[in-house]
Amino acid sequence: MSETRSIAPAEGKLGVLTVGLGAVASTLIAGVELAKRGQGLLAGSMTQMGTIRLGKRTDGRSPLIKDFVPLARLEDIEWGAWDVFPDDAYVAASRAGVLEQGKHIEAIAETLREIRPMKAAFERKYARNLTGEHTMGEIGKRAMLNGIRADINRFRDEKKVDRLVMIWCASTEVFIEPGPDHQTIESFEKAIDANSDQVAPSMLYAYAALLEGVPFANGSPNLAVDMPCLREYATKHNIPISGKDFKTGQTLMKTVLAPMLKARQLGLSGWYSTNILGNRDGEVLDAPENFKTKEESKLGVLEDILRPDLNPELYGNVFHKVQINYYPPRGDNKEGWDNIDITGWLEYPMQIKVNFLCRDSILAAPLALDLILYSDLAQRAGLGGIQEWLSFYYKSPQVAPGLYPEHDLFIQLAKLKNTLRWMMGEDQITHLGREYYDETD
Ligand SMILES: NC(=O)c1ccc[n+]([C@@H]2O[C@H](COP(=O)([O-])OP(=O)(O)OC[C@H]3O[C@@H](n4cnc5c(N)ncnc54)[C@H](O)[C@@H]3O)[C@@H](O)[C@H]2O)c1
Repeated sequence: MSETRSIAPAEGKLGVLTVGLGAVASTLIAGVELAKRGQGLLAGSMTQMGTIRLGKRTDGRSPLIKDFVPLARLEDIEWGAWDVFPDDAYVAASRAGVLEQGKHIEAIAETLREIRPMKAAFERKYARNLTGEHTMGEIGKRAMLNGIRADINRFRDEKKVDRLVMIWCASTEVFIEPGPDHQTIESFEKAIDANSDQVAPSMLYAYAALLEGVPFANGSPNLAVDMPCLREYATKHNIPISGKDFKTGQTLMKTVLAPMLKARQLGLSGWYSTNILGNRDGEVLDAPENFKTKEESKLGVLEDILRPDLNPELYGNVFHKVQINYYPPRGDNKEGWDNIDITGWLEYPMQIKVNFLCRDSILAAPLALDLILYSDLAQRAGLGGIQEWLSFYYKSPQVAPGLYPEHDLFIQLAKLKNTLRWMMGEDQITHLGREYYDETD
């Protein structure tokens, strides 16, 4: 056993602010509210369903994670949100078409109707396929930043919450690369005052959160908190941040299958991934400048897992293509196809086909819940800056400068669980296991 970190207890209310009250956020809120009333199983959520092995395999200690680490209780969550549309959570959930109206929406209608979004900090140029008018207007970036900060503080006072977490569940913004404006807080502040195009709304939400001492998690691939100045600010002020882009459907499969190929030293010549998706997310991603942000997030995965620099004969010439096609009839029920061309002994070709008929927000909601609870835990445990142990949840994990991200789902899982063990003063599990075979004593 090592020393336990000192973790402040999860006392009082936890305010959860979602940027965006669309399919993912409304499915998250509805699921938690149903579970609070004993009307739903939160499958897919490690914090609610997962267990953790402690000590030796022979010790028989595998508690539920929520009984092992001091997480906030679902009963203590208060919801708040911003959106470009004025729809309350009841209308948003009904409109998203993810949940069954009678079974999963009407049962909590009253609570959902009380969750009304605040006006969004939004500019059309960052998501041109969105037409909502429930915004702060064209008031300039400084005023938007101040507006978000005022919203956070009003929410804190009105709901009497003790702690807060902000999570980006809003549309994917146009592609922006980190540039000079994003290097230091001074340059970023100047860019805000100059209304630079390089300062997207997601960055203003992230900055506002940090200025108010609120952990920030980013469920989309746009930069938001993933830039040098905000990373440094979060580290200096000890505020947890993590991102980017919930790892739900096709990339989840990719980060399971690609490590298998690598583990068996099977070669790869091509991986063709395509999707059809008909929700509002699909509509926003139909704009090429928004899809580019998503594409970058999805493409990086294979190279980091396969490491062609180390195995050029196996992975030096991989054709990797990812497409998302907006197809309204399917709504939130995404269908993904993968065609994977692999090579084996003496380079004989083989193929793997994956056809994943998933439900986008049903897969994303549990990740959002875990990220909220773990970000709050990290804050109470005094862990600021990038939370690499939360890579498990992301397609494009944020890591320290100079590090490549770890994408393999099971390495990410081991890292997450070892971090929880470390926080609680339990031994790391290395899987060496010599002690089970040592018969000398
Ligand atoms: N569902 C998944 O499996 C999944 C996986 C990975 C990432 N994501 C990302 O999560 C995000 C949410 O997905 P969704 O399906 O809920 O989309 P959605 O379109 O249903 O909801 C997003 C909401 O954000 C709002 N919005 C956009 N810009 C805003 C702003 N500046 N401020 C406040 N609100 C704003 C929109 O009006 C919309 O209601 C998307 O970026 C998506 O790419 C989803």
